[in-house]
Amino acid sequence: MAARFITFEGGEGAGKSTQIRQLAARLRERDIPVIETREPGGTEAAEAIRSLLLSGSIKSLGPEAEALMFAAARVDHVDRLIRPALARGDWVLCDRFFDSTRVYQGEAGGVGPAMLDSLERIAVGRCRPDLTLVLDLPAEVGLGRVTSRLKESGDQPDRFEVEDVDLHERRRLAFISIAARAPERCVVVNADRPEAAVAEDVWRVVDLRFLQEAA
Ligand code: TYD
Repeated sequence: MAARFITFEGGEGAGKSTQIRQLAARLRERDIPVIETREPGGTEAAEAIRSLLLSGSIKSLGPEAEALMFAAARVDHVDRLIRPALARGDWVLCDRFFDSTRVYQGEAGGVGPAMLDSLERIAVGRCRPDLTLVLDLPAEVGLGRVTSRLKESGDQPDRFEVEDVDLHERRRLAFISIAARAPERCVVVNADRPEAAVAEDVWRVVDLRFLQEAA
């Protein structure tokens, strides 16, 4: 069976990491080798860039410089982790990928499409996701989840979590519009439901697209 590259996208608190964990477990039950990773991050260099980006210390450089940094992290992540894993036959489940740059730095950040296209060509090349699951929920609900998570852990919100609800809602619409423009790659899943119900939908999509087709 061919290795598959699946990305999860959506706003803050959409439950991407939980859903990735659950999907990975279900795939492993079927003896499918899976790698779970995230952006920004996934490799040592990319995780170093992540700390810089999420700390907010380079926010003042503006969205174009941030887009460059996200792309720099992605170059390393794709070259050293994602492409080799797929070549070995491992499935790759990735928490955020280039759609996040299009949404956060692009449609909601003002970085133009020409620059985003170039960055995508450089960082992603032909290593495009086979499937992107967009976990959709009202920004207010997602931010509420983030707030309770932070309260439990005692952590501080990151550079993006502190932004206002209108901006988060614009990002939500931007994800939906990306999905509408790429229906062959993207599936929108209603994430404003209990974890198990969302996981069932995610599984149904993956099973139908990749497993039944291979059977
Ligand atoms: P993270 O803690 O992983 O957030 P989440 O749990 O919501 O995925 O932090 C990643 C943050 O970086 C998130 O707010 C989105 C932002 N981001 C961008 O702005 N551009 C990008 O290209 C990527 C990959 C993430």
